[in-house]
Formats: sequence, C-alpha cells, structure tokens
Amino acid sequence: MSNVVIAGMQWGDEGKGKIVDLICPAFDVVARFQGGHNAGHTVKFGDSHFALRLIPSGILHDGMRCVMGNGMVVAPQAFLDELAELKEAGVDPRGRLYISERATVLLPPHVHLDQAREAERGADAIGTTSRGIGPAYESKASRYGLRMVDLTAADLEERLAALLAVIRPQLVALGADVDHPDLDVAALAERCHAWAGDLKPFVADTGRLLAGWVRDGERVLFEGAQGALLDIDHGTFPFVTSSSSTVGGAAVGTGLPPTAIDGVIGILKAYTTRVGAGPFTSELLDETGKHLQRRGNELGTVTGRPRRCGWLDLVAGRYAARVNGLSALALTKMDVMDRLAEIQVCVGYRIAGEVRTDYPADRAALASAEPVYRSFPGWQQDTVGTLEFADLPPAARDYVAFIEEQMEAPVLFVSTGPKREETILRREHPGFELLTAGRL
Ligand code: GDP
Ligand code: IMO
Ligand code: MG
Repeated sequence: MSNVVIAGMQWGDEGKGKIVDLICPAFDVVARFQGGHNAGHTVKFGDSHFALRLIPSGILHDGMRCVMGNGMVVAPQAFLDELAELKEAGVDPRGRLYISERATVLLPPHVHLDQAREAERGADAIGTTSRGIGPAYESKASRYGLRMVDLTAADLEERLAALLAVIRPQLVALGADVDHPDLDVAALAERCHAWAGDLKPFVADTGRLLAGWVRDGERVLFEGAQGALLDIDHGTFPFVTSSSSTVGGAAVGTGLPPTAIDGVIGILKAYTTRVGAGPFTSELLDETGKHLQRRGNELGTVTGRPRRCGWLDLVAGRYAARVNGLSALALTKMDVMDRLAEIQVCVGYRIAGEVRTDYPADRAALASAEPVYRSFPGWQQDTVGTLEFADLPPAARDYVAFIEEQMEAPVLFVSTGPKREETILRREHPGFELLTAGRL
C-alpha cells in the first residue's frame, strides 16, 4: 500500500489528526484534498499540542512534504496565521509546503455571507463553523470564484468586482451590513496583493508535483477532513459541509487519478459526536451523553462549541465503510468508554414501524428514526495508554471484534489516549506491516 487515504467515518473529529501524525513517517508526502479552516486536527506529543486547520497534520515532522490540494478552499489570512503559529512553535514549513494554484481562495465576503445566512435561518441553521466554507465552494461551482493563481492576475480587480456583484446583493437581501472594507473592491484588492506576495513561496502546480513524486515511487498519505456523514453527496444533507470528504474527493481534490490510491483507512471514534445541527439517531441527551462529553473533552477544535455525544452507530458506520471502500480501521478514543457499565451500539433504525439497516436519504425518515441497540457489557477498567491489544480487558476486545465484523474491515489501530504514543498497533493483521511495523 503506497498511497493511502485517511477518511473520517462519522461527523468529523474522529481523531484523524492524531492518526495522520502517527503514521505519516511511513510516507513521503501528506496531502489535504478538501475543506478549509473548518477542520481542526489535533496532534499531541510529549507536552506539546497543536490544532492544525488548513496545513496538513504531517507538517510537525521534520522534512515531511505537505500539499494543500486543489479541492481545498484556502483563506489566505487563516493560512498566514497558522504559519505564524507553527513558526512560533519552531516548525518551519518553507520549502516543503505547497498550496495548489488551483485551490479556491476563500475571501472575507464569503465569511459575511455564511454568517448572514446562518443568522437568517434562525432555528433552522446548519450550525456551520462560520468560516465561509459553503459560500467559497459555491463561488467555485458557480464559476465566479478566484483560485490561488488568480491572486496575481492582471485583472484581479475585475474578478473581485464580479465576485462582489454576486455576494453584495445577497447580503443586502439578508439585511446584513454591507458598509465594510471586506466588501469594497479596492480595499479587498489591496489585501489580495499583499496576500499574493506572502503566499507566493508556497503556491505551486501541486498536481504535477504529486504525479512526479508518485511516478518516482514516493508514498502519499491523503488527509481527509470532516467525515462521511458531512460529505456533500453522501452525508446528512443539508446538514453537511460543502465538499467531498469521502475517498473519491482525494483524487478530484489533488489531481492524482483514483488508480493511484491503493488503501483507505477509516477513522472511527468508539462512540459518536456531532457539532452543529442535523439528525443524530444515537444521540444521548442524558447523563451518559454528558459523561462522554466531559471525559472525551468533546469541545469543537475550531469553534469551542460542545459536541453532541451518543453511542456508536453502525448503520451509519457500515454506510460510511461502503462509500469509502475500507482497507482497515483506526478505532479512537476507546479510553473514553472505560467507566461505562453498559455500552450500546446502534445496529438498526426503526422507521415507520420497520427496522432498516441501510442509511436513509430522506430527511424526514432520518429525523424520525429510532435506534435499535445491541448491548455490550462495559469493561470498567482503565485502558488509558494501553499499548498491546492483549492487555485490553476482554470486554473491550469483544467490542473491537464486533466492530470488525460489522464494518467488514480489520481494526489496525486502537487509540487509547490523545498522544501519538498512546496507540495499540496491531501487527497481527497481515498486509499493513509498513504502518504497524514499530513505534513510528
Ligand atoms: P480530527 O478533526 O478528526 O483530527 O479530530 P479532533 O482533533 O478535532 O478531535 C479529536 C480529539 O480527541 C482531540 O482533542 C484529540 O487530541 C483527542 N483524541 C484523539 N484520539 C484520542 C484517544 O484515543 N483518546 C482520547 N482520550 N483522546 C483522543
Ligand atoms: P474535522 O476535519 C466536525 C460541520 C459543522 C457544521 C457542518 C457545516 O475537524 O473533522 P461548514 O462550516 O463546513 O459549512 O459547516 O459541518 N463541520 C465539522 N464538524 N469536524 C469538522 O472538521 C467539521 N467541519 C465542518 O459543525 O455542522
Ligand atoms: Mg476536528
């Protein structure tokens, strides 16, 4: 397996950052392919802690090349802020971090529109991260958006005027204040010129670079953001993000062909969380939900919002596995379940009196679905930092085995704490030696 995709199996925040950071030494390049600074990927090692938003989680490893692919929406200021934070932490990405010249530029007007729309939706709000993600992708799909390469175009001002000609009237209709420098062509052009200068050392034809590296036998780790149920096509529409966060997005969003991908590792949290609105069949609104929230420290990395918590949902999980075509799984946050006396797993949805195991597309059906649970005894034993599978309590091993059987994929990693080193690498699964060979 040379080129491997890391994909979230739920509604994001499964621990993708931790796993990317853990396994990337077995690769030469880490590439993000979709999303923007709505993502928050936490990496912890020793006493250090970093939350990556736009820049791939591999950047913390000396010399690791990192790519921000064409499928991303990149806010220049957010990128520069993140770069400054990295520099402060002693990480220098220069000469090894590349932004696609075809990536969409997320501009301040997109943020105004995201926020005005959410305010207007009131109780029906999606609960976006307010970062302008939806409007930025919309400007790409509607073909008036700017790409990185356009920041140095001779007709930049005309392009910005065209963009504002679409966005300003919408803001006016939403009753938003449009007397703001973010919405002024000349002021925006000036900022874009400055950004173009600052970003110049990073902007490249990343599709061509990646193709060359792959041809030379180098290995690419694709770092997905969000998760399958937030995917614009396969997720719980309309409560989704605006990009393809499943495996297909990795090809479209980097310019490498699907045939270049030869492995997919799904990241599955041992329970479920969701930030923002939308259906969540196995949600727990009781003390157990609060317990998972507290013990799992389930606060949004980007927005600080408390994450909604619930039981593991394998109706959703099996669907995510099908769409992604998994080679293997990483099961994260097992340690958070340590204190529970009983653990439930959702294995069916009761809708209009019938039990379904396929994932419904219909919003009303999904909203009315009642979970059908299978119950497991809790292990009620401390597993934090456990390094060997055999050292997990038998009930925890049974839980893993049930997940493997249902998801039809081997659990290659069991994460037992937020730190890089707090991970069980399961060498007993053949075919993944490069990833599980030793402490990476
Ligand atoms: P991502 O968006 O998928 O990269 O995940 P986030 O970083 O947003 O959220 C995952 C959170 O759980 C972070 O705070 C991680 O440090 C933490 N985390 C990851 N794996 C584990 C684990 O196995 N156990 C515990 N207790 N925390 C974990
Ligand atoms: P990572 O990569 C969790 C959610 C938002 C909202 C919906 C749409 O850290 O897993 P958007 O701002 O994208 O238009 O919001 O998607 N969302 C995430 N939830 N983790 C993320 O990223 C998310 N990125 C977006 O909360 O419900
Ligand atoms: Mg996150």
